[in-house]
Amino acid sequence: MPKRIGVLTGGDDCPGLNAVLRAVVKTAIIKYGYEVIGYKDGYKGLVMNNFVKLKSSDVSGLLDKGGTILGTSNIDDPFNFKIEKDGAIEYKDMSDRIINNLEMFGVDCLVTIGGDNTLRRARDFSRKGLNVIGIPKAIDNDISKTEMTFGFMTAVETATEAIDKLHTTAESHHRVMILEVMGRHAGWIAIEAGIAGGADVILIPEIPYDINKVAQKIMERKNEGKGFSIIIVSEGARAIGEETEDTADRNNSRHARLGGIGNKIAEQIENLTSIDTRVTVLGHLQRGGRPVPYDRILSTRFGVEAVELINREEYGKMVTLQGNRVVAVPLEEVVDTLKTIQPDSELINIAKSVGVSFGI
Ligand code: F6P
Repeated sequence: MPKRIGVLTGGDDCPGLNAVLRAVVKTAIIKYGYEVIGYKDGYKGLVMNNFVKLKSSDVSGLLDKGGTILGTSNIDDPFNFKIEKDGAIEYKDMSDRIINNLEMFGVDCLVTIGGDNTLRRARDFSRKGLNVIGIPKAIDNDISKTEMTFGFMTAVETATEAIDKLHTTAESHHRVMILEVMGRHAGWIAIEAGIAGGADVILIPEIPYDINKVAQKIMERKNEGKGFSIIIVSEGARAIGEETEDTADRNNSRHARLGGIGNKIAEQIENLTSIDTRVTVLGHLQRGGRPVPYDRILSTRFGVEAVELINREEYGKMVTLQGNRVVAVPLEEVVDTLKTIQPDSELINIAKSVGVSFGI
């Protein structure tokens, strides 16, 4: 039976979203003869009934394009949707209205491509009886039950290239160079780029640091004749006993906004070591641009498998990478827990073996 599939991209954008849309649309149309409609700007498009019909030609040439042709939003929650009326703001649960709209329009299944918040809401829709399939994306690589999210490898590539560039200038000027990277409460970008780029210190949220130990490492290197050091710090990293730096304006945002840790530790390191220290905040460069081949392939694998699940009517699941195979797990098992780095994991141990300090 031909089906009509709705698809949306929600949460923060990341490289590979267009590639996954391409895979969903092409597989649905070419292999199964389904119809696909795309909702604009994440869940907001569902609330507003703002959609476009997607043809195979609409997704041609998208493999190497960053961003998402559907647009996205990381602030619109369909179960607690912000409505402004006559200057007043109220929050409303729009989920029943969305389900009615989807039924009226004959949408058999909704494919939600997103991070933890988007997938949590997919799970909530599934609990209300909607046919949903989740596809995990995140530069942060923090979604549980999948070994990898697409977008992550591109972010690691960008951060590694930044370390490579910082290395040459750090060495020339005998400076400490700090690179602050994204990742929220998981240090995956920092540890992988840190290992790939040969950082001397890696600070991640999973291992609270002691700034004196960081300074000690820098001085040890100086005493060995290496007058420069590279520190990569994850935006969610924090000193022992301290909270993560959150710069969100609570009057305007309900979400934490991490960042600022790089400048904080730069000042402390300069005071403790008297070595000239500079900070680079990589920011949204990690989210933009062309996906690396790994992410294009993973996006395609996830997109194709999502449509296979729809064909088998295995709803309420998320596609996932396990043992380098694409399989599906119930959305119920995925949400509410973040995948973080275990302090005794192989990555941490190999970094320590080659002399990296975690500031402990
Ligand atoms: O989740 C991806 C991410 O890039 C995080 O690493 C970062 O903390 C956050 O999004 C930034 O969000 P925004 O684009 O709203 O500033």
